[in-house]
Amino acid sequence: MRVIIEPDYEKLSLWAARYIARRIKMHERSGETRPFVLGLPTGSSPIGTYKELIRLVKSGYLSFRNVVTFNMDEYVGLPREHEQSYWTFMHKNFFDHIDIPAENINILNGMAEDPVAECQAYEEKIASYGGIDLFLGGIGADGHIAFNEPFSSLSSRTREKSLTYDTKVMNSRFFGGNISAVPSTALTVGVETVMSADEVIILVNGHSKARALKHTVEDGVSQAWTCSALQMHRRAIIVCDEDACDELKVATYRYFKDIEKANLEPMAL
Ligand code: GLP
Repeated sequence: MRVIIEPDYEKLSLWAARYIARRIKMHERSGETRPFVLGLPTGSSPIGTYKELIRLVKSGYLSFRNVVTFNMDEYVGLPREHEQSYWTFMHKNFFDHIDIPAENINILNGMAEDPVAECQAYEEKIASYGGIDLFLGGIGADGHIAFNEPFSSLSSRTREKSLTYDTKVMNSRFFGGNISAVPSTALTVGVETVMSADEVIILVNGHSKARALKHTVEDGVSQAWTCSALQMHRRAIIVCDEDACDELKVATYRYFKDIEKANLEPMAL
């Protein structure tokens, strides 16, 4: 696991966006005809990364014409047009501002009549592209990745999951503070779906994520902190800010600062 410690959210976002941009460019230059397959999250964590990716597209440096995306999750029971659906979030914050063809965008349908079939078809579609090249993710304060809440199976694949009370409280800020307005379940990729990607980048910012970061990096692999499964990934990169490091041991912090010291500047383009 690599841990990139940036001074603040802005730098963290630049680092992640430029890393992703570089991966897409490398894929393009390799002459691969297969599209680049990118897994994407919602939430506040990726907004800065999306902003920089949008800027790179608008500047002409980057194109998403040959990129296929798969979002991590979607609330059950919210129609696409609902202002808090992840479909709306993704279009408003990212897809409407880049040159990705609409048919390249994949988001689970939270209104599917048969959620089991919907989830199965999602996994099959990912497989049909040869899997995900890079999965970008955020993390919940309780360490959940996508909506894989504590004690989710670390071998899980896309399915419907109940949301914990804590997650509903956290996400109620988007529903006018009304916990009962937050859907109780979501369709989500599984831990194993994320783990099957060739590469995973997780964004961790702010003091409220400090415990989750500690469990991701320092403690043992446990279903209680689904983020800890990333320790078993061959190419996992955690990009965090200083505030998120509050619970790391000084030695851990120093180790990553030292070993990554040549790689901390968001790459120049
Ligand atoms: C939600 C999403 C996760 C996201 C998490 C953290 O529960 N399902 O994918 O990582 O929230 O959100 P934020 O980035 O707003 O802290």
